[in-house]
Amino acid sequence: MTDRTISRRTAFKGAAAAAAGLPLIARAGSAMALPAPADTAAGMIASLHDRIYINANENPHGPCLAATKALAALPTLSGRYGMSFGDRIAALFAAQNGLKPENVVAHPGSYVPLRAACLAFSSTEKPIAYAEPTFDSGFRGADGKPLTAAITLPVGPDHSPDVKALLAAAPTAGVYYLCNPNNPTGTVTSREDILWLLANKPKGSILLVDEAYIHYSTARSCVDLVAQGADVLVLRTFSKIYGLAGLRIGFVCGRPTCSPRLTALPTTSCRCPPPSQPKPACSIPPSSPPARPRPTGSRTGSTAGSTPARSSTSSRRAIS
Ligand SMILES: Cc1ncc(COP(=O)(O)O)c(C=O)c1O
Repeated sequence: MTDRTISRRTAFKGAAAAAAGLPLIARAGSAMALPAPADTAAGMIASLHDRIYINANENPHGPCLAATKALAALPTLSGRYGMSFGDRIAALFAAQNGLKPENVVAHPGSYVPLRAACLAFSSTEKPIAYAEPTFDSGFRGADGKPLTAAITLPVGPDHSPDVKALLAAAPTAGVYYLCNPNNPTGTVTSREDILWLLANKPKGSILLVDEAYIHYSTARSCVDLVAQGADVLVLRTFSKIYGLAGLRIGFVCGRPTCSPRLTALPTTSCRCPPPSQPKPACSIPPSSPPARPRPTGSRTGSTAGSTPARSSTSSRRAIS
């Protein structure tokens, strides 16, 4: 982060200040910068009608009526694991988006595969590269340091990532992350820029496209690139436009060969194997996942070309 850049936090402060200036919200006193003490069911239900938590990016309207009706049957099923449901909803999503079932894996939210992709495809040798500010919390540990290694540079003058500068700053990255539209700047990376990055990125790396807010924009989704077999992972979630953040439903779409690298990680959900595979019917992640070294590294600055980039590392074994 350089002096002339904005972080998600400062961007949020700006948004909060702007919100405070909006007569409607200010008069209602309903735009909350920090979570209110609503950590009881009754408190949360009360907050549904008069609180917008602008730092949580939730949909204040919640789910639509059809979803609420469908959810009404769930409490009675809560005692069951319902393991096939993940694959069934993934298959439905695949059919609706021109993908094959093996291209889509359902997860408890898109944050899980976001983090898993960082761990699976980046390492200290092959960092994760992105323009900031963006939604980067999934790439950091509890200490705020990168889980693997990160090369970042500021968004361009129009607040969208400059993909050419990004590749110049991080020519050997394992993951190039684009949030499209970007959280928190709301800017869209053009299709042309996405295709350029795909065509020019190093062999073996992946483009991770986070489409959490795609429905709020005119941006074209990258799921068709998944169908074409490109080196791309696309993340989608039910948390935003569908107002189902608490239900934890998200997808990662990619080539089938990408899935094992993601699902092998202890962060990911259980997935049923294809019918041809032997019993047991569902592959549950091992109860004792392989130990992952804790991040202990330090940050170092670096520059690339005329655009200041930041390189941060932590000592972590590469997952290959
Ligand atoms: C850009 C972006 N990606 C992913 C997520 C994670 O959302 P979820 O895990 O609820 O799908 C968020 C949440 O705010 C987000 O803003």
